[in-house]
This record gives sequence, structure tokens and C-alpha cells, in this order.
Amino acid sequence: MRSFQFYNPTRLIFGKGQLEALKTEVPKYGKRVLLVYGGGSIKRSGLYDQVIGLLKEIGAEVTELAGVEPNPRLSTVHKGVDICKTQNIELILAVGGGSVLDCAKAIAVGAKYDGDMWDFAQRKAVAQDALPLGTVLTMAATGSEMNSGSVITNQDTQEKLGWGSAYSFPAFSILDPVNTYTVPLDQTVYGMVDMMSHVLEHYFHLDENTPVQLGFCETILRTVMDAAPRLVEDLENYELRETILYCGTMALNGVLNMGLAGDWATHNIEHAVSAVYDIPHGGGLAILFPNWMKHNLDVNVDRFKRLAINVFEVNPEGKSDQQVAEEGIEALRKFWTSIGAPSRLADYDIDDSQIDVMADKAMLFGPFGNFKKLQREDVVSIYKASL
Ligand code: NZQ
Ligand code: ZN
Repeated sequence: MRSFQFYNPTRLIFGKGQLEALKTEVPKYGKRVLLVYGGGSIKRSGLYDQVIGLLKEIGAEVTELAGVEPNPRLSTVHKGVDICKTQNIELILAVGGGSVLDCAKAIAVGAKYDGDMWDFAQRKAVAQDALPLGTVLTMAATGSEMNSGSVITNQDTQEKLGWGSAYSFPAFSILDPVNTYTVPLDQTVYGMVDMMSHVLEHYFHLDENTPVQLGFCETILRTVMDAAPRLVEDLENYELRETILYCGTMALNGVLNMGLAGDWATHNIEHAVSAVYDIPHGGGLAILFPNWMKHNLDVNVDRFKRLAINVFEVNPEGKSDQQVAEEGIEALRKFWTSIGAPSRLADYDIDDSQIDVMADKAMLFGPFGNFKKLQREDVVSIYKASL
């Protein structure tokens, strides 16, 4: 293992009926609340009314920022920052999926910064302060509810950049599996692909002596694969929603990567695709990850073999390591296809016309990936294999 510090200040409040915790959590931070949400799912599900009801009970003064886009935009972040600054907001409350949470994180740091928070995404500055942020998560996917990461799209430059800071962890996050019942089938699938991809990003590392971390990763992958085929047939199943919600949080809250540096190249490659085409992140990952794996099989074939045997139950008898590893990658592709995820960029009507543009975007900060440093030609080759 490499030396590490683990720091995660988010109070995770998990379970049925836990929304009530708003009444004890919100007053810790103040009265003036900016409620941030997306395109209307929380109004249709009734969650909006519940949240407003509880906030009224504690006498909170609520200002709203609605309409956060999937792949949240910098222009929306700017609106939120203006509200915070002009109305002296004391707490931001994000109610929604990863996009709403990520947007709220960006607003939280922007509200305490004199410049444009895009400086943080561009690595020109590092956040030094933020307004406190609470979240009510409605979709299992990104892990944003218990990490410091945020991904924002600048529409003017067609850049989609991740950023993070010690100040952008939510102070508290409320996760009730019931609030994920209404997530539509396609988004449910994208979310499960995303969390599995987070685990895989951790799994592919070069640090030695990480048996517990590898085992944790395999357990989460097997658990999602066990639940997913049943969940897609039964979207309001409490136990399955609960399992998946917990897996999503655990996949990216810092626990799996203690002592190791995960790869994260596929995420970078995907963000460049969704920057240009505005496709769902999980859909892009389902297409790209198996092709990243094939491209990097030779880096450490044993890791791919281990994944194939321990997660995909590939029988290694009479096969070379390479064959076992390749069967594992094929099994991952088949599994994702079986639950309804896309497998080719063509599934989103994406052709080869923007490959150079996407590769340039992926290379913005130079060669990337901790398992294998990818150069521009690697990225182009993975895009071409994904067409
Ligand atoms: O906008 P509303 O109306 O709320 O609808 C959303 C949206 O259309 C809908 N939805 C969410 N919860 C629902 C629901 N519909 C019905 N019932 C519910 N309970 O689902 C759609 C997608 O929502 P979104 O928040 O965009 O999905 P997700 O949670 O997958 O977030 C994706 C974003 O997170 C970034 C992605 O790049 C993308 O921008 N990521 C953030 C990460 C992080 N902060 O750590 C890591 C990830 O790797 C990822 O890159
Ligand atoms: Zn992701």
C-alpha cells in the first residue's frame, strides 16, 4: 500500500423515513436555505412537498434554484452563486441526483470565492472555503453524496471538468431508498454502470499488497450484479433499492481507495464524450470501459484474470491467462448489455467526426491514468474501438 490519510466528514443518514433528520440537521447551519433541485422529478414524486413541509416546520427561509441540468452547467452554478451572495444564504440543500449535488457543491465554493469557481475546475486555484451543504439524494450512482468531487460542464467551451476540495464534502446526506423508487429504468441502469465503473477504476491500480481493497471491490461488483437483473424488473423493490443505494455510496466515498491510486482514465475519456454530446455519464462508461480494459490488458494480465474468476465466475481450466482475462471483459460487456446499457457510441448516434475534438479535451491536462498513462493515440484508439 502507499501511505494515506482518510478524511470524510459527511454525516451519512441512511434508511426509510430518514428525511425527518432535516429538522435536526438544517438548524445547525442557519435559517436561510438555498434549495437546489433538478428538472422536476422531485415535484412529481412528492419529495419536494415533504422537504418544504419540514423546512417550514423549523422556520427556515427558503430560496429556490430549480432546473439543474443532467450534466450540470456552469451558467446554473453562476445563478446559484449570485443568490447566495445577494441573499446571505447560510446552507445549501441539494435534493436530487449527482448532477444536482455537483452543482450545489460548485455553488457552495463559488459563494465564498471572489473569482469564478471555474478557476477550480481549470486547476488555476484551489477552494479555501465553502458554504455548508446538505443533500437529499434521489438516485444511486455517483457517490457525490459522500465525496468531495463535482463535475461541471462549461457550455461556452464545451468542457466537462471534475474538481474537488477539502471543503466540498456535504456536511450531511440523507439517503432513503424509497426516494429512488421513481428513478426511471434507463437512469437506474446508468447509475449501476457508474457505480460499477467507480469500483473498477479503483480495482485497476499498480500499488502492491492491497488484498482487502481488492476484496471489497469484488464484493461490491458481485453485489450489484446480483441485484441489478432483479431491480430492472422490479423498480420499487425496497431491499434492492437499498442495496444499490448503499453500493453507490461505498463505491466512491474514499474507502475502497485507501492505500492505492486507482486508474480513472475511463472517466476522463467519458467526460470528453459527454462534454461534446451531452450523453448520460453511465451510458458513456458502459460503452468505453470494456474497450479501455482490452486496450490495457497487457499492463497486468493477472488483475484482469482475477476479476474474471472472482467476479464473473470464468472457469480458468485449460485456458491461458490472456483467454481468461478476455472472457472476463466479454462477461462485463454482456452483463451491461443484459440490463439494457448501450455498448457502442453508435447507440447515441455518435460517429467518428468528433474523435479529434474529444481526444483533445481528454488530453487537456496531459497524459492521464494511474494504471497506464494514456497518450493521445491511446485515447483515439479507445474511441475508435467504441464506435
Ligand atoms: O432533473 P430531475 O428532474 O431531478 O431528473 C433527473 C435527471 O433527469 C432524474 N432523476 C434523479 N432522481 C430521480 C430522477 N427521476 C425520477 N426519480 C428520481 N428519484 O435522473 C436524471 C439524471 O440525473 P443526474 O443527477 O444527472 O444523474 P447522476 O446521479 O447519474 O449524475 C450524473 C452526473 O454526475 C457526474 C456525471 O459526470 C454527471 O454529470 N459525476 C459525478 C461524480 C462525483 N461527484 O463524484 C462522479 C461520477 O463519476 C460522475 O462523473
Ligand atoms: Zn462515474
